[in-house]
Amino acid sequence: MAYIREIITDGHPTLRKVAKKVDPAEIGDPLFQQLLDDMFETMYDAPGIGLAAPQIGVSKRVFTVDLQDDEDAHGPLVVINPKFTLTEGEVESIEGCLSVPGMVGDMTRSERVVCNGLDRHGKKITLEGTGLFGRCLQHEMDHLDGILYIDKAKNVRPATTDEEVGEAEAVAAGAR
Ligand code: NI
Repeated sequence: MAYIREIITDGHPTLRKVAKKVDPAEIGDPLFQQLLDDMFETMYDAPGIGLAAPQIGVSKRVFTVDLQDDEDAHGPLVVINPKFTLTEGEVESIEGCLSVPGMVGDMTRSERVVCNGLDRHGKKITLEGTGLFGRCLQHEMDHLDGILYIDKAKNVRPATTDEEVGEAEAVAAGAR
């Protein structure tokens, strides 16, 4: 069984902490696997395309992503202890976050990233991200470092247009 957990919002101190590295020995623990299942359940319920553990009050370096509905399809993915080995280029788009409900901002992100980490079985993975997927990886990584997009974005505003409302309500990062 997977459970929907409460998504904490801006103002909650856990969102501002640098999350702790996951001990690889912990990955096989049923409690940790339950956390991952709950993260997916919570992300799909929101609905969002990405969710970082701190957003449900768990200060650990792990996030989930599911972009299967996007043309740049990726997921469902678990990334534990992620690290960028490359960031290049620059791209601006509208960004929102489940932990900052109803708001969007204009965000500059790297155009392409390469990310190393572990999957839910503790296996090493390397992900290359461009487009929405690349921006999502950067957004979730920021959550693990206690950073919210509103710290970096320009023109943070209530979502008003259809596109903005879509961003604010439906996705954690990026524009289409
Ligand atoms: Ni977010």
